Amino acid sequence: MKTVNSFNFAGKRALVRVDFNVPLNERFEITDDTRIKATIPTITKILNDGGSVILMSHLGRPKDGPTEKYSLKHLVNPLSVVFGRKVKFADDCIGQSAIDQAAELQAGEILLLENLRFYKEEEKGNVEFAEKLSKLGDVWVNDAFGTAHRAHASTAVVGQFFEDRVCGYVMLAEIENANKILESAERPFTAIMGGSKISDKILIIERLLDKVDNLIIGGGMTYTFSLAEGGKIGKSINEPDKVELAKSLLEKAEAKGVKIYMPLDNTCADNFSNDANRQIVNRGEIPDGWEGLDIGPESVKLFSEVIANSKTVLWNGPMGVFEFPNFAIGTNAIADAVVKATEENGAFSLIGGGDSASAVNNAGYGDRVSYVSTGGGALLEYMEGKVLPGVAALS
Ligand code: 3PG
Ligand code: MG
Repeated sequence: MKTVNSFNFAGKRALVRVDFNVPLNERFEITDDTRIKATIPTITKILNDGGSVILMSHLGRPKDGPTEKYSLKHLVNPLSVVFGRKVKFADDCIGQSAIDQAAELQAGEILLLENLRFYKEEEKGNVEFAEKLSKLGDVWVNDAFGTAHRAHASTAVVGQFFEDRVCGYVMLAEIENANKILESAERPFTAIMGGSKISDKILIIERLLDKVDNLIIGGGMTYTFSLAEGGKIGKSINEPDKVELAKSLLEKAEAKGVKIYMPLDNTCADNFSNDANRQIVNRGEIPDGWEGLDIGPESVKLFSEVIANSKTVLWNGPMGVFEFPNFAIGTNAIADAVVKATEENGAFSLIGGGDSASAVNNAGYGDRVSYVSTGGGALLEYMEGKVLPGVAALS
């Protein structure tokens, strides 16, 4: 596989697939620019070699063609600041004006294309659409790890039209860090799994049972485990059809000698809002009319001890509804514990993308853990052992 490191981009126009699917607020301001900053090494390398860069990405999931809300034009100014030069913009990702703007690009210049998903052909992996995109550059660089689990035109299909398919630094780092966890984790190895649904995490949990010493389970999915134990969960989120699955996971963990840690207590609320009334109860003792929205203080203590004694920590998914500050206490405490294990115990800590990555970044801890992934679904699928189309297309 060719990598940016060993490829000379002098005089070349590099068509770079990035994942700039970043969160924007109602004023179209970026609220987490981790995915943008992550691409600085790749783009800088190309420009320093004497090449030019044509950036292509999706933003959101537009369903009906061009929409203001999903326009990548909102990223032009922030990108110009990040890259220290005026970033040009093509208001269509294919067509004559994109072709002309790409052709006129000089060494050291950056052109951003409009949202790829304004064409339904992108998600369909349409070959003709991919060929049109390919006309814009001399080499294809894929640095969109966050979208590598999608077999879309720009992430996978476009590769066949290039002699040079080059793997970017984000992609390399993501794979290296995920492999470190999967293949050479120092023990004790603790995985912390959160989030609302068992069904989203079942495959990765099953794979991790062969690798980890400890599995901490938090977040909304614990209420399904509570049901499996015959506990009371009030109106907490749950998946009744996954109760048997939860039971069998616990049995498998026991058979494999993996220690499972579940919350000892929960902070629950009388309605789903930050200002709801709160009370702390033991796991499985949530009163009718109440719902668990966070782990409680005894759980924080227990989980923090397990994390403190670990040499490898993988964290994916929040401990509660961390978007509500009153129910972010558990998630933030786990972030603290992971930072401590990293800094004081020399643990290797990898934060899976999505919500747990936002929680860590929002707490200002991005630089104090070993690695924060830019991938949510992509990281999970990679760790489940799946071949990612965006990676396969590079070889
Ligand atoms: C993501 O944020 O999950 C990636 O950018 C992929 O987007 P998608 O889930 O809409 O395909
Ligand atoms: Mg996704």
